[in-house]
Amino acid sequence: MMTQDQLKQKVAQAALPYVKGVGIIGIGTGSTVRHFIDCLAEFKAEIEGAVSSSEASSEHLRKVGIPVLDLNAVGTLEVYVDGADEINPLKQLIKGGGAALTREKIIAAASKKFVCIADGTKRVDMLGKFPLPVEVIPMARSYVAREIVKLGGQPVWRENCVTDNHNVILDVHNLNILEPIKLEHIINNITGVVCVGLFAERPADIVLVSQGEEIITF
Ligand code: A5P
Repeated sequence: MMTQDQLKQKVAQAALPYVKGVGIIGIGTGSTVRHFIDCLAEFKAEIEGAVSSSEASSEHLRKVGIPVLDLNAVGTLEVYVDGADEINPLKQLIKGGGAALTREKIIAAASKKFVCIADGTKRVDMLGKFPLPVEVIPMARSYVAREIVKLGGQPVWRENCVTDNHNVILDVHNLNILEPIKLEHIINNITGVVCVGLFAERPADIVLVSQGEEIITF
């Protein structure tokens, strides 16, 4: 049987055709994307550069020799490749397990095609089992937590975590997310919230999932 890491490696490899001929690629964050960057390194001569969603991915990109570019300098991106923590059948996602959700959402918004890569354990029928990450301005932490309790969630402050944007993360437990777009709007509207890790309004366009020896695309 393949390990979870081997499944991540396999699905990362399967995403390569989606970036063929694309000069500048949007790059997400996490262990699956790390494998994807390693795969890209073999074709780096053909790649102009990458727009990265985290300091961690930027560092890895530079290490393998792929230039990291500023999103403001490149305009709309053709393709964004990133992982996810949960994926529902509508390709709506929970993201932010790696605390990079805000920059990930910005790059997803600025990209024509969002290709999501994940191992099969990330597929769910309903989002919400994975605690929903919310990036919050530090001084608003307790206020936002109280507002989230009113929505029925249980926010837990992710200790020892400061985001690349110098903010904090609340992980919201016990949510059955029946209406992902609605909840995304409601949480994004709480004063002090920078970004919620629900990618429902702008879901993935293509999902690749590795399940055993198979790659499932939807
Ligand atoms: C990062 O903030 C997340 O959105 C990641 O995309 C997610 O946590 C997936 O991570 P793995 O590829 O490590 O499972």
